[in-house]
Amino acid sequence: MTAVDSDLHDRIEQLAQIQSEVLGTGVTREVYTPAYSEATELVAGWMRELDLQTRIDAVGNLYGRWQGEQPELPLVLTGSHFDTTLDAGRFDGVLGVLGAIDALRRLKAEGFRPRRSIEIVGFAGEEPRFGAGCIGSRAMVGALSRDDLDRMRDRRGVSVAEAMRGVGLDPDRLGDALLNAEDIHMLVELHIEQGAVLEADGLPIGVVEHIAAPHDFRVTLTGEPRHAGSTPMAMRRDALAGAAEIVLAVERLSRDSLSGTTVGTVGILNLTPGAVNVIPGEVTMDIDIRDSDLAARAQVTDALLETVAEVSQRRGLALNVTTTTLDVPAACDPRIVAAVRAAAVELELPSRGIVSGAYHDSMVLGAIVPIGMIFVPSVAGLSHHPDEYTAPEDLEHGVAVLAGTLKRLAA
Ligand code: GLV
Ligand code: MN
Ligand code: MN
Repeated sequence: MTAVDSDLHDRIEQLAQIQSEVLGTGVTREVYTPAYSEATELVAGWMRELDLQTRIDAVGNLYGRWQGEQPELPLVLTGSHFDTTLDAGRFDGVLGVLGAIDALRRLKAEGFRPRRSIEIVGFAGEEPRFGAGCIGSRAMVGALSRDDLDRMRDRRGVSVAEAMRGVGLDPDRLGDALLNAEDIHMLVELHIEQGAVLEADGLPIGVVEHIAAPHDFRVTLTGEPRHAGSTPMAMRRDALAGAAEIVLAVERLSRDSLSGTTVGTVGILNLTPGAVNVIPGEVTMDIDIRDSDLAARAQVTDALLETVAEVSQRRGLALNVTTTTLDVPAACDPRIVAAVRAAAVELELPSRGIVSGAYHDSMVLGAIVPIGMIFVPSVAGLSHHPDEYTAPEDLEHGVAVLAGTLKRLAA
């Protein structure tokens, strides 16, 4: 069994101190902020301490390469993200980047010489600051257009392009971030589970088999802002009352989904004008529906869109619906699944197959290269929460399995 490595733990704590704003007791470090640039420099420095060749691409993805003995061969990519959602935990994504640095440190200490190069990546903007997540990986696979960078905006109305310029990146160079699939052998990402399956089973390692994918909508309902005291109930077109019906439909349809694995959330809801004495005239809501079963997800989203149309018509509300994210669930490559299992067996760590309910950059990269993921337990399945926690020995197990997997994939 592995000893607890205080370096990894200390580094996770160090990174957690770098925040773009303080929203609560958790960590907030949004992409394309000065804090994110500072974090990038810190992580790049840790990569350089290991003699990795670092570079930052056109959209802010950070790379650190360990040159293999046959650098002309397609390389093994590993990593995750170190931006966070709002008031989040300190392990989500961070483990996959700092854990990869630690895994390479171990492999170097063992005297391992990779045949293929191994490259660590810190994907920029996995969290959906601009409505959709995985900015960095989408740029890598060519799934973002230059127009998207102007169109996609954060909660304060700042576009991706504006935010990029603010930290010295040039949005017009988007195309430079494209990956050539032929240069990549495989991608393996270490991550905390963010669910409670491993904890319930008392297992240290999850071998990811599928990654569920989101279909997200932005729905705007426009009614009439009128006097809350003098407008009789029969004369109202209340946008929020309509939105309330939709929120409950998201919950009901997701619960009733035939797959039993669909989840639906309304995570953003804004209303105007927002005065206690004015009927809400306009509501914008962001709806997130996910499943690893594409047919079940489609059934839920189809039924939901029908309900949305019906509610808006019945209540006399103008309706605008746009799709903000439409991703396809990804299957992990059997060769990577086998390598992760073999690495866990060698370390005498019991494991199980698992489905990721969260999305990851691996899901996006899965469109062009073979992908796989390793999960370690999250206490109480808590994530996107300040109290997100994974015990030090579980972090260590994840790093050890990642090292064993990289050894197999890069040999
Ligand atoms: C990723 O952070 C997700 O929302 O699944
Ligand atoms: Mn996350
Ligand atoms: Mn994550």
